[in-house]
Amino acid sequence: MQIIIINGPNLNLLGKREPSIYGNTTFEDYFKDLKSKHPIIRIHYYQSNHEGDLIDKIQEVGFDYDGIVLNAGALTHTSIALKDAISSVKCPTIEVHISNVYAREEYRHKSHLAEACKGLIAGLGLDSYELAVQYFMNQGKKMR
Ligand code: DQA
Repeated sequence: MQIIIINGPNLNLLGKREPSIYGNTTFEDYFKDLKSKHPIIRIHYYQSNHEGDLIDKIQEVGFDYDGIVLNAGALTHTSIALKDAISSVKCPTIEVHISNVYAREEYRHKSHLAEACKGLIAGLGLDSYELAVQYFMNQGKKMR
């Protein structure tokens, strides 16, 4: 089983960026831990601050991998092109957010991506990513 975590704009600054909202852990440290906790699956990681790069990555992996865990950052609330990319590929995507976007500014309440996604996990800190990974692992077990 092969899945990828894709992070969008400003998520390269985790650990430094607004720690009261996003915490003190860098994604690199979190990702190392996550991989060591789940050695039986291949978990890849990609981050970009650029919408087109995110679309290219979804297109590149979306016909081969078993799942995409996507935190598109602010592009969640603006990008129909990303929504179309998610709809265009074969593998399912789970939308994740570190913060509870529904408890924040109103402009964060709208996701253009959610309707193209299998599900959405928000507000559980970095655990949001692991729960999405767990979902794909459970799906993999059911198919065996
Ligand atoms: C975020 C929430 C978005 O509204 C924000 O623009 C982000 C991070 C989250 O993980 O909580 O960059 O996706």
